[in-house]
Amino acid sequence: MLCLSFEGTAHTCAVAIVNAKKQISADQRDQYTTEKGGIIPNEAAAHHKKLFPELLKKALLEAKVKSSEIDLIAYSRGPGLPPCLHETLNFTKYLANELKIPVVGVNHSVAHLTSAELLYSVKNPIYVYAAGPNTQIISLEGKRFRIMGEVLSIGVGNALDKFAREVGLGFPGGPKVEQLAKNGKYVELPYVVKGMDIELSGIITKAIDLHKKGVVVEDLCFSLQETMFAMLTEVTERALAHTQKNEVVLVGGVAANKRLCEMLDIMCRERDAKFYAVPLKYSGDQAVMIAWQGIKQFNAGDQIHFEKLDMNPLWRTDQVEVIW
Ligand code: ATP
Ligand code: FE2
Repeated sequence: MLCLSFEGTAHTCAVAIVNAKKQISADQRDQYTTEKGGIIPNEAAAHHKKLFPELLKKALLEAKVKSSEIDLIAYSRGPGLPPCLHETLNFTKYLANELKIPVVGVNHSVAHLTSAELLYSVKNPIYVYAAGPNTQIISLEGKRFRIMGEVLSIGVGNALDKFAREVGLGFPGGPKVEQLAKNGKYVELPYVVKGMDIELSGIITKAIDLHKKGVVVEDLCFSLQETMFAMLTEVTERALAHTQKNEVVLVGGVAANKRLCEMLDIMCRERDAKFYAVPLKYSGDQAVMIAWQGIKQFNAGDQIHFEKLDMNPLWRTDQVEVIW
C-alpha cells in the first residue's frame, strides 16, 4: 500500500510517499525561515500554498510512481497555525477529489510520537515530546496518550525561538542557541518545576533582561539549555519512576539538540532504562511521519469522507483515540 502525505501545520511544507513496510520512497520538504523575526502565520501559509504543488511533483518523480498508483492520502489535520492548516486542507481536498482514494486526518503531535517506530522497535516508552509550542511528557495508557506533565505557558522550542528573536538570531532559534552554547558558561536563571509541569516564560524574560544588561549571548544560550533541559529531565525521571516503564523516546524538533539527548541519556542509564532520540532527519516536521501514522490509522479502519475533511488547530494529543 502506498501512502501520499502532506504536512503543513506550521513552518514546514512537506510531501512524502511511504509504504506499509516503512519504506520511504519520497521525502520532500521546504521550511519557511526568516533572517531576523519570528514566524508570520500568513506568510508561512502563502509559502505552503506555493510549495505544495511543486513538492508533490518532485515526490512523484523521486518515488518513480504515477499519482494513479497511490492508495491513500494522509494529511496533518492539526494542531497548528490556522492559516497553514487551511492550505494543507485545501491541497488535500484538491488531490482527494482528483484521485478519489481514501483520506485519513492525522494529529501532528501523535505523528511525532509514532515517528520513533520508523527507526526503533520501542515497546511502551515514556515520550518526551519537545517541539515548538508543544512540550509534553506522555505515556500511552489504554487507548489514550496521557499527558503526565507539560509546559504551562510556552513550549521549549518556542521559548528558544522567542529568546533568539529578541536577541536578533532569527528563526528557528533552537539550532543557533545550541551552536552558541558551545562557547558559553553558566549564569543562574529561574528553575520552575510545579509538580509534573514546567514553566518557561519567566526564564526567557530573565534571559532577555540579562542580555540587555550586557551578559554575553553565548553564556545565556548555555545557561538556557542547562536550566530548561534539567527541568525536562527531572519531570521525565519522575514519569519513569511513577509508571515503572524502562524506555524513553525523545521526539519533536528539539530532539535534534545534543545536550538534551545527553542529559536524558545519563538519567536513563542511571535508572537502567533505554533512551532513544529520533535523529535530526526526522525529529523536526516532515511528511514521512504523517504517512506512517496515516497508514496505522487506515489499517485500523479510520478514514474521513470527502465532505467531512476539516482541520483542528487545537487538537490535543490526549484527544486522539488510539485505535491502532
Ligand atoms: P509542534 O510539533 O509542537 O506543532 P513544530 O512543528 O513547530 O511544533 P518542530 O518542527 O517539531 O515543531 O520543532 C521546531 C522547534 O525545534 C523549533 O522551535 C526549533 O527552534 C527547535 N529546534 C530545532 N533544532 C533544534 C536544536 N538543535 N536545539 C534546540 N531546538 C531546536
Ligand atoms: Fe512538529
